[in-house]
Amino acid sequence: MSAVVIAVDGTAACGKGTLARLLARHYGFAHLDSGALYRLVALGVIEANGDPGNELDAVKSARVIEPARAIDPAIRTDVVGRAASQVAALPAVRQALFEYQRHFARQPPGSAAGAVIDGRDIGTVIAPDATAKLFVDARPEVRARRRWLELQALGITREEVDVLAELNVRDAADRNRPISPLKQTVDAALLDTSDLGIDAAFAAALTLLDDKVKAALAVRHRG
Ligand code: CDP
Repeated sequence: MSAVVIAVDGTAACGKGTLARLLARHYGFAHLDSGALYRLVALGVIEANGDPGNELDAVKSARVIEPARAIDPAIRTDVVGRAASQVAALPAVRQALFEYQRHFARQPPGSAAGAVIDGRDIGTVIAPDATAKLFVDARPEVRARRRWLELQALGITREEVDVLAELNVRDAADRNRPISPLKQTVDAALLDTSDLGIDAAFAAALTLLDDKVKAALAVRHRG
């Protein structure tokens, strides 16, 4: 019996991680933050004094990451975010992380009926046949403000304009890379969270996805 999969893709700091977590909790599904995998690879390279743009260094790190370490706040810094975008552009790194993500989608841990996976290529590459797809975005200034606040909470002080510039650079790199670029598929529902708080964004996501998810769960129960 195939698992129900919700693919949540979107730009940097658009709120997709929070939405994915809330959706997973709502449906009792497992949640995978795929960006954390790339951030773990990047952190591993940095800790080994390697070069995030070097395929050998990055693949070496990708082979030994421990997904359980995704809760480590050390992966949330802007330096690691920048390096994550670099390692994520390397085909061998994406290849090394592919099976883990695919397996999570097909057989969610804890025998959950479904998985919610957020990232950049979930609806295009990892789970192109996902039950429901969401593409999340927000105006760059709004995203920069949110990320600036998140960094502050981590004790990292940055100018907001610098955070904005960096998000724009990272989005452009993620959208324009030749392999697994960030893009909205025709079957993905667009959610702009610019003017929505967390509760309103979650309610809007449910409105967009709920029919498809409920229908797939009903088929699953019948089967
Ligand atoms: O939290 P934020 O939106 O800033 O980024 P993230 O989701 O943690 O992802 C960090 C970086 O990993 C992104 O800028 C992408 O380059 C890369 N990534 C990717 O290429 N594919 C994914 N499925 C997830 C993340």
